[in-house]
Amino acid sequence: MNADVSWAAFDPIAYVDHNYRDLQAEDAEILSIIRDHFGDHFPRRAGRPVTGIDVGAGANLYPALAMLPWCDEITLFERSSANVRYLRSQVAAYDGNWDQFWRVLCKKEAYGALDMDPRARFRDVVGVQAGDLFDLVQHEGRWSMGTMFFVAESMTSSRAEFDRGVECFLRALAPGAPFAAAFMEHSKGYHAGEHFFPACDVGEEEVSASLERFTDDFTSVRLKSSAAVRDGYSGMIVAYGRRNSDSRIPLLGG
Ligand SMILES: C[S@@+](CC[C@H](N)C(=O)[O-])C[C@H]1O[C@@H](n2cnc3c(N)ncnc32)[C@H](O)[C@@H]1O
Repeated sequence: MNADVSWAAFDPIAYVDHNYRDLQAEDAEILSIIRDHFGDHFPRRAGRPVTGIDVGAGANLYPALAMLPWCDEITLFERSSANVRYLRSQVAAYDGNWDQFWRVLCKKEAYGALDMDPRARFRDVVGVQAGDLFDLVQHEGRWSMGTMFFVAESMTSSRAEFDRGVECFLRALAPGAPFAAAFMEHSKGYHAGEHFFPACDVGEEEVSASLERFTDDFTSVRLKSSAAVRDGYSGMIVAYGRRNSDSRIPLLGG
């Protein structure tokens, strides 16, 4: 179960070195999908304040970078104390490795035309919040856009907790809010430094089933660049869409 895992043992530097020191083809593909989704949703800056949340931000800044042009406030929500420290260390001036991710986003005008240095904007709008995503149900409908990358299936081996994680993420979003979520397909668990973390074995069917109650309008894509069989997982899935407006849905298991 998620609560039994030593999240403080997650090593953000080893994780960044392994995944995000250099831009991988998978992340470039994900970035191009989500920049088009968010850019098409917000043809221009909204007239009212936009708040974004990245759930289980870990040691990945690119979901927040993808929300940057539109948000007045972005919450990086994270449970591991080690990852919270890493995220806080990045707010004032994030490390140079993240520039290559920003450059992919800049192929869409909304990012390229930002009238500010992205580091300055990141510093102005990003806040790091320590917390447990299962508690997000207390903030139903609070955020106007959101991301959750490699979290619901990479924090537990339990299918019920996977479904509940997706539910808590989507419930935190307001009706109509655009979202993007990424999932490891058929993951057997992973290392972040010395420590091994559990995963829930899900494929496209389970991902779609977890999303369906909370969005009438979503697309799920299996990445082309992750088609090759890899150690510990078989591919990556990205789902993006908009939160529906049915707030009468009873809580799973509640
Ligand atoms: C595989 S990492 C993904 C990190 C990052 N989003 C990324 O795209 O690389 C899973 C993340 O979920 C976080 N996490 C696990 N359980 C959580 C919980 N109950 N609430 C919030 N975050 C959690 C972990 O600490 C870790 O940062």
